Amino acid sequence: MINMESEKKIRIGIFWLVCVLVVLSLGGCSSRARDMEQVSKEERIVIRFSHVVAESTPKGRAAKRFALLVNERTNGRVEVQVYPNSRLYKDGEEFKALLEGNVQLIAPATAKLTEWFPEWALFDLPFLFESYEEVHRAMDGEIGRRLSDLLLKRNMMALAMWDNGFKQVSANRPLLWPQDFASLTFRIMPSKVLEAQFAQLGAKTVAMPFNEVYSALESGMVDGAENPPSNMLTKKFYEVQSHLTISNHGYLGYVVLTNRQFWESLPEDIRKVLEDTLREVTQWEREIAAQENEKDLELIKKSGKIQVHYLTEEQKKAWKEALQPVYRQMEEFIGKDLIEMARKL
Ligand code: LMR
Repeated sequence: MINMESEKKIRIGIFWLVCVLVVLSLGGCSSRARDMEQVSKEERIVIRFSHVVAESTPKGRAAKRFALLVNERTNGRVEVQVYPNSRLYKDGEEFKALLEGNVQLIAPATAKLTEWFPEWALFDLPFLFESYEEVHRAMDGEIGRRLSDLLLKRNMMALAMWDNGFKQVSANRPLLWPQDFASLTFRIMPSKVLEAQFAQLGAKTVAMPFNEVYSALESGMVDGAENPPSNMLTKKFYEVQSHLTISNHGYLGYVVLTNRQFWESLPEDIRKVLEDTLREVTQWEREIAAQENEKDLELIKKSGKIQVHYLTEEQKKAWKEALQPVYRQMEEFIGKDLIEMARKL
């Protein structure tokens, strides 16, 4: 039977035990707080990462993952803030913001570099790549190096190349044969190759920012658009289009860009953490991109809101033949040697 005296001792014991636990946990918090606290606001490096797509896309997920890992691995010395959905800067504003130091990372589609760097339009050529492997051979090889070097001239650095995927094309009528495109108007990214691609099919184009595509399709300002399923699903393009053709006629990929001066001004240890983490996230992003697009295409089909057409071999052959002249038309713009290098891949 526990007497009063020992009960009192037990209570006092429990009281002190709780005190110790509280102090320890506060100590723990304070060490984390101390990390953040230790890292004064002045010391903390804030990296603003702006992009135009939804968070649940390959690029959106990779940007979030990068932010999480960097914040963790630098114990708060670096804070990566991600701004998706054109929330901070939309297409056409990102480059200026990067060069003026208002953002430190952007990841535009390669097509959006072509106004300044026509050589990057290589990635827009129709049916140039048949698989992600072929694209990666170009990106990670001599072609990628040559294209990245061009960016340095404008104080930008290519840190990584991420995938979205192969483009499909939608409109409000079935697009099965090349002649089905005649007299329609398509939204494109600002690329001379994409303009030539649709012109070769007898269609007109309007280059516009990504965040304006849905309303342009809904209002009928344009009749159709091309994008991988992950963008079509997350931006609900399938709700305002009645037909989708699975053509894999082009590739959509990204360059993770930074401002050269900013990057070179970073402490070496920090730059190493960022580069190592980016390499890791790039590999992860490339693994999930294909899966994400397959999954999103299934969700688009399940919606029952759009009719999905798969090209027959004969139809695909007709598209390739119809689009072949684009290569010759774009030789001077892109550079004949680059096109040859890519074809050999
Ligand atoms: C587009 O403008 O269609 C795409 O580049 C958007 C994106 O970043 O995937």
